[in-house]
Amino acid sequence: MRSIGTTDLSVFPIALGTNVFGWTADKETSFAVMDAYTEGGGNFIDTADVYPYWATRESTSEVFIGEWMAKRGNRDSLVLATKVGMLEGHKGLSPATIRTAVENSLRRLGTEWIDLYWAHVDDHDTPLAETLDTFDALIREGKVRHVGASNYAADRLAEALRIAEEEALPRYVALQQPYNLVERGYEDELRDVVARERLSSTPYFGLARGFLTGKYAPGTVVDSPRAEQAAKYLHTEHGRRTLEELVRVAGEREVQPATVALAWLAAQPTVTAPISSARDVAQLAPLMAAAELVLSPDELRRLDDASQA
Ligand SMILES: NC(=O)c1ccc[n+]([C@@H]2O[C@H](COP(=O)([O-])OP(=O)(O)OC[C@H]3O[C@@H](n4cnc5c(N)ncnc54)[C@H](OP(=O)(O)O)[C@@H]3O)[C@@H](O)[C@H]2O)c1
Repeated sequence: MRSIGTTDLSVFPIALGTNVFGWTADKETSFAVMDAYTEGGGNFIDTADVYPYWATRESTSEVFIGEWMAKRGNRDSLVLATKVGMLEGHKGLSPATIRTAVENSLRRLGTEWIDLYWAHVDDHDTPLAETLDTFDALIREGKVRHVGASNYAADRLAEALRIAEEEALPRYVALQQPYNLVERGYEDELRDVVARERLSSTPYFGLARGFLTGKYAPGTVVDSPRAEQAAKYLHTEHGRRTLEELVRVAGEREVQPATVALAWLAAQPTVTAPISSARDVAQLAPLMAAAELVLSPDELRRLDDASQA
């Protein structure tokens, strides 16, 4: 288990992403995925009020998680994270939006508290202090335990942390941003802020939307709403070179490429727990295996070299 920043939140090194619930996973399958995840030792579930509104016009992910926790009676054993700021009709991080959104999320999740509440995307129209002040009130009311920032630029994250310090408001304890072997932009600026401020990184798109599972190959058709975005890496020399080395290391270790991709990510400085999603229990197994796989310094270096842009 690993700690989120300097908090008392102790999490499994792979977080379960749930934007597939109600989208590419129906309710029964979503329950089976959550059961398999927790039976394998997982405790860190990542959702958002907007998941997957684009497909169902409702917040099916939070609803499924709420029903599943009620059935299993396991709320206390989970570190539950959800987000505010991107749902139709509740966009942005103004005090009024956050107030409404948090009540809706708590109701759908059937819980009295959220362990980690993410600002889903930066809101340049609301002063950072107003957002943090609202989060402060939610923490004092016991509705939220900690807050995190998702999709923030390095300067805005640093600014939010400075304001929190100066005005005795809650500090973001973690950052959620895209990061994987073929998208390493996080290392440019954000990683320094996360390290300096002793935050945790819980990156998403750890599998580059499925590309790093190795199932995308020239001439192969993958039936997924992610296929177009995932397959684009095949069209670059960088993507093919990275995948080739990933598949080679996976073959040597007799594990799936997805396992190596997430183990590489989990081994990067500042990364506490990559978030990844599975549309069924079979897909989940290689993701869970990443928690056990320790890559050697030589394997890490080979992957690092191959994936340099
Ligand atoms: N903060 C944000 O703005 C933000 C944005 C996006 C995502 N997220 C979070 O991060 C989570 C993960 O993101 P993501 O799911 O989009 O990206 P990802 O982890 O890079 O890709 C996961 C997808 O890869 C495929 N896959 C997974 N395991 C596989 C396996 N063993 N074999 C073959 N294919 C496999 C599945 O899609 P197919 O079966 O369809 O191929 C799965 O849905 C989300 O659920 C969400 O919680 C956050």
